[in-house]
Amino acid sequence: MKKIVIDPVTRIEGHLRVEVEVDKNSIIKEAYVSGQLFRGIEMILKDRDPRDAGLLAGRICGVCTNSHFNAAVSAVENAYKLEIPRNALIIRNLVSMALFLQDHVIHFYHLHLMDYVDVSKALKADEEKAFIIAKKYSKTPYNNSLENYKLKKEKLQKLVNNKKLGPFSSSYYGHKTYKLNPEENLILISNYFEALKFQTDISKAIAIFGGKTPHPQSFVVGGISSVVDMLNVQRLNDYIFVLKRAKEFIDNAYIPDMKLIASVYKGELKLGLGKSCGNYFAVGGYEMKDGKTLFQSGVIYEFDFENIQNFEESKITEETDRAWYKDDKIFYTDLNEDSTLKTRKKDDKYSWIKAPRYDDKPMECGPVARILISYLKNNESLKPFVDEFLNELDISLKDLGSSIGRNICRAIESAYVAENIFKYINELIQNIQYYNTDTCVSYNFDSTNKNANGRAFFEVPRGVLYHDINIKNGKIENYRVIAPTTWNASPKDLKEQRGPYEQALIGIKIEDTSKPLEVLRVLHSFDPCISCAVHVMNLKGKKISKNKI
Ligand code: NI
Repeated sequence: MKKIVIDPVTRIEGHLRVEVEVDKNSIIKEAYVSGQLFRGIEMILKDRDPRDAGLLAGRICGVCTNSHFNAAVSAVENAYKLEIPRNALIIRNLVSMALFLQDHVIHFYHLHLMDYVDVSKALKADEEKAFIIAKKYSKTPYNNSLENYKLKKEKLQKLVNNKKLGPFSSSYYGHKTYKLNPEENLILISNYFEALKFQTDISKAIAIFGGKTPHPQSFVVGGISSVVDMLNVQRLNDYIFVLKRAKEFIDNAYIPDMKLIASVYKGELKLGLGKSCGNYFAVGGYEMKDGKTLFQSGVIYEFDFENIQNFEESKITEETDRAWYKDDKIFYTDLNEDSTLKTRKKDDKYSWIKAPRYDDKPMECGPVARILISYLKNNESLKPFVDEFLNELDISLKDLGSSIGRNICRAIESAYVAENIFKYINELIQNIQYYNTDTCVSYNFDSTNKNANGRAFFEVPRGVLYHDINIKNGKIENYRVIAPTTWNASPKDLKEQRGPYEQALIGIKIEDTSKPLEVLRVLHSFDPCISCAVHVMNLKGKKISKNKI
């Protein structure tokens, strides 16, 4: 057995380390995925005013800021049994849904694309050929002109000449498993640059109703505070304008680019590289005017698509058998000389991430879970988006449970969200026209029950987010978070079951053990957010080897 260590795994959020063991044929037999960054935001939340929970919990992550902000404020509202006005809910959804688009586009182009694109080859591309190839995947490819490709090539050449490769500087150029031809590489690199502009643009949309981004501040317990923005026609128009441009980019660049990669790497897709554990769960949500929801909830066991179970939160447990927590003490670790992990005890703890399980099983949450469950539960408005990919690529639903499948689901979800976001805006405009301008429900904090428990479940870009708050004497007594990456990047559990990242790595063949690109493809396909994933489980020193929600 040979060990391969990648530490840190880059192009993600936070500090992720992976250690894989390969046999003599360079096939991965064992994997240890580790969150290396201790967070402890729960400790900061303790003894604070519950009305501040949102602003503090938002600091859990610099990327998923409004997801935690929203979940924390909602958990407090749940504790105090406050039902916020529809307009406030729409505004929160407009901020959250714009984040879906921002996150997925950044992930595809800036965090993951270089695992499939060889930048060095793009310089050899023929612009005319690129122009024709782009039309294979879209009737109206984004910025598809000879002039654009020439400009992008010059830009790239300049970076190479000045030895300022920046984000392209440490890729595995020339790796045997890169499959795109020079023109395909150029098309994708061209949109890589365009996606940088998309990032700036969509941030503005989030800030219109969030006050700012990252770390929006307009959600308050009981509703929203960005009332002036909601009632300002210009601000509404600005949001619509940015979202229309975002939709144009998603439809004409992201979707065709995803089809291009999935077509060229179809062998990997059909082989199911980066295979899912087969257990999925989603909590659904984002209710629309007609009462339907954007996503459906449910549970799938072992790829059994025929029998979708209802989601029951009482089936969630958490444990820290292999995470560096025990009772209320924390174990630290450092590295051996061969850079393998040294744990303080022989108990083989190797991560700051705890291990949530559903019905005692590891579960994958996120885009694949949402798409599969919503599709199988007959979400009619989602169906055409999914069928387009299944038919054009000639693949099955099960094929989506793979590295490339995860990316396909993210692209599908982006197009689907980008279309539906306009329904919420229209509803908001209609409400305002009919003089329904409520944005907050009033409550008297001083006379509110001082002891209360609340929780909130949300579908956020990387999967299911859970916040749980205990309030005692009007102060936060205990706070608990299970983030999407906590599920997906979890370590092994008491039963020795691997977490979804680890399971996805088993059986993968590494072409060149000095350049383990295949490992990055698998890990990046989950869009890891380690800043989000690490959470203390209990602050009171109670037994925490296995905890039920
Ligand atoms: Ni995050």
